[in-house]
Amino acid sequence: MNRQFSLNRRQFLSLSSGLAGLGLLPPALAAKTLPAAQQRLHRAARREADRVGRFTVREIEGTIPAALNGSVYRVAPGQNQKFGRPLRHYFDGDAFLSAFHFEKGSCTMHTRFLATPERLAEQKAQKMLYHEFGTAAPLPEDPYGDMPGFKNTASVNVIHYDGRLLALSEGGPPIAVDAKTLAYQGPWHFYDTLPRGSSFTAHPKFDSRTGDGFAYGIHQGTPLALQVYRMRPDGKLDILHRVPLPHYLMIHDFAVTDHYLVFCIPPLSIDFPKLFQGGHTIAEALAFAEQTPMKLLVLRRDGSGQPLWIDDRNGMMFHNGNAFEQDGALLFDAIVSDDDAVLRLLHSAAKEQLPAAADSYLVRFRLDPKSGRLAARDTVSRGLEFPRYNERRAGTDARFLYAVGDHAVNPMLSGCVLALDMHRGTRRDVRYEAHQAIEEAVFAPRPNSTDEQDGWLLLQGYDGNRDENFFDILEAVSLKRAARLWLGSNAPLGFHGNFVAAG
Ligand SMILES: [Fe+2]
Repeated sequence: MNRQFSLNRRQFLSLSSGLAGLGLLPPALAAKTLPAAQQRLHRAARREADRVGRFTVREIEGTIPAALNGSVYRVAPGQNQKFGRPLRHYFDGDAFLSAFHFEKGSCTMHTRFLATPERLAEQKAQKMLYHEFGTAAPLPEDPYGDMPGFKNTASVNVIHYDGRLLALSEGGPPIAVDAKTLAYQGPWHFYDTLPRGSSFTAHPKFDSRTGDGFAYGIHQGTPLALQVYRMRPDGKLDILHRVPLPHYLMIHDFAVTDHYLVFCIPPLSIDFPKLFQGGHTIAEALAFAEQTPMKLLVLRRDGSGQPLWIDDRNGMMFHNGNAFEQDGALLFDAIVSDDDAVLRLLHSAAKEQLPAAADSYLVRFRLDPKSGRLAARDTVSRGLEFPRYNERRAGTDARFLYAVGDHAVNPMLSGCVLALDMHRGTRRDVRYEAHQAIEEAVFAPRPNSTDEQDGWLLLQGYDGNRDENFFDILEAVSLKRAARLWLGSNAPLGFHGNFVAAG
């Protein structure tokens, strides 16, 4: 549309906002001011965590399945302000860890802020010393004073690997965390196999059939390169590929099949001169190229061969679903959107008027990994994010994909959980109340079961009426709730977590 009328994206959004105000455009295209009740939900679901420590969860509706035996670890940005300064981006705030331990039908909860040196230094100084991702720290009054620094806030995802938790951000190395105490241990370089100056993705993948893990990061060397790792069972990394990049690109997720690794890379880079002019945050220095196609990159999983680059259409992408091979073709799922609205949305954490919601939709790509021909790009379902699946089916033609959706109330807070039957093309949604919001649903398989649907969806939510978080356990096969745990506290909803089976 912007091309048709020769408007750039910013001009288009400005115009569409004005037209919507005149009632000439549907509200979905306009920035919107949330009703007061939803504003409260929006703020409360994202405010600073109000309780840390270990707690036995006592208020339980329903029954925690006795077979649910293991832990859910989650990490989230745990603040919406710092020393009175509102945090403007949903990535901002110190990392807040949550662990939910399930055993014999009971649950113990353990929460803790990640005690990084940067957090401790700011607490001691009682002021911001570091820029957040989207909120600048105050500049020093003394013109010769130290400028605020940047930091690696591991608040996006957390995995259990090689006997420890790794909190992940993709902005640097993982942060090692004691799985029992949630104590900060420091940057983790995989026994010196992660080269200095290399970052590590927030979305590593594991092949449950072989036990292999895969990950990647940006190597800040010459040349700048996408560096792809195999995560070995002994906790070390092998470097499988170093793919030169023309400039820094934001690559948030990828997918793994028996023979291939596939990346969807949006045209999103960092304007480093702007970043280092001073006073600008990383979020402000993100540059989305509106006329540039998203790139698909295919690499061989064994580290051999040359990179295969394929042009897709312009768009934005954060998360992949599953991927697999079929008759020589490579099929993979991704949640994409046709513009960069999600970036403005993420940068609206402190605003009362939110930009228009990005329409994120699930695409199944089919391509020939030998010729690079993109044979199909089929839209499967709309209005969803945070895709998860039974990871025992990773790399196979899995039938079910789970996600959250219904962002009509607040585009950053999910209002429903859903299950997609990828074989039959059907979708089931379970809506939450208007005063509730939920985060990503994690699949936990029933022990020793080979049935793909036999397990539970585990998700945290916030209830505005009770001003309290809850944790739901849903039967994955029916999406019926087995139990709701009232947590007695309010912790911000975040992005990602994972289930770790006991033993
Ligand atoms: Fe993510």
